[in-house]
Amino acid sequence: MKKLLHLQSLVWIVIGCGGLFLFSGCQGAISKQEQEIKDKRTIVLGFAQVGAESSWRLSNTKSIKEEAAAEGMQLMYINAEQKQENQIKAIRSFIAYQVDAILLSPVIETGWENVLHEAKAANIPIILTDREIKTDEPDLYRSFVGSDFKKEGKMAGKFLQKKFQDKTRQVNIVELYGTIGSSPAEGRSIGFREVIKENAHFKVICSRSGDFMHSKGKEIMRDILNEYKAIDVLYSHNDSMTLGAIEAMEEVGMVPGKDIVIITIDGEQKVIDALKDGKVNCVIECNPKLGKEIIDLTKKVLNGENIPRTVYVEDEVFTEWDDLSLISPRGY
Ligand code: AHR
Repeated sequence: MKKLLHLQSLVWIVIGCGGLFLFSGCQGAISKQEQEIKDKRTIVLGFAQVGAESSWRLSNTKSIKEEAAAEGMQLMYINAEQKQENQIKAIRSFIAYQVDAILLSPVIETGWENVLHEAKAANIPIILTDREIKTDEPDLYRSFVGSDFKKEGKMAGKFLQKKFQDKTRQVNIVELYGTIGSSPAEGRSIGFREVIKENAHFKVICSRSGDFMHSKGKEIMRDILNEYKAIDVLYSHNDSMTLGAIEAMEEVGMVPGKDIVIITIDGEQKVIDALKDGKVNCVIECNPKLGKEIIDLTKKVLNGENIPRTVYVEDEVFTEWDDLSLISPRGY
């Protein structure tokens, strides 16, 4: 890949300068022929993905890989295994390879300035996908494409208000939190609290991070069930943790969806099946199929077109009150 890229760059420099001037005298407007060569050159993208922690993530990766391939782009994909330092290393290698653009799904929100400055200095646009960053320097990236996590949290809170509208006693809520410092966990937590604070009887009695993983969701739920005897609601930041938590409940003879009301986010097929079985009460969709939007946007950036700063994709809500036969297969 490296050789290919270097060869491509070299060919581009030599042909792009008419082959006569070699590395000098190559300024000014490019000719029609040069433009044609440039148009035909394969676009190379670097993609620093969070990891492979959930079915959601696998589907997200597949969607981006497929769309890049359909557009004839080369995608250098890196699975960062949930570690920011791996993503920073990946970005540095993409810069060294002189990719055309970098897609970044940041594991956590902070600590990106140095490496994004390096990409900017190399004139490589950064497009954020799925997760956002917090920075005082917004021009370090061009655009964000993904879900509105705060809105997802609000939708979860609204379901709860409706579900417990007749309750006057305290409703005890347990929160399975995603990765600490990540934008989905933060948005989902803030949005949820903004809504439930309207009703004094809702109380989050415990909030623990399961890092968006099935195994950790199960482990933490086991601990929580040991420590807390009166739990009314489980609000889980993703389906992987929810499926683990359901296993923990069933191990101790509890009936998920009845003994404890369950609200979860993502919308994987397994959780939709659990909703149909009555083990889950509400599913907030988080759409992983971002490939088309992200690749279209990247093409626009590379063509110098104006692009929106933020593109939120639509997410649906599926509840126990809906006609669940209408839900089409999820594909993840
Ligand atoms: O960033 C999106 C979240 O990350 C999804 O909800 C979750 O499944 C994934 O790990």
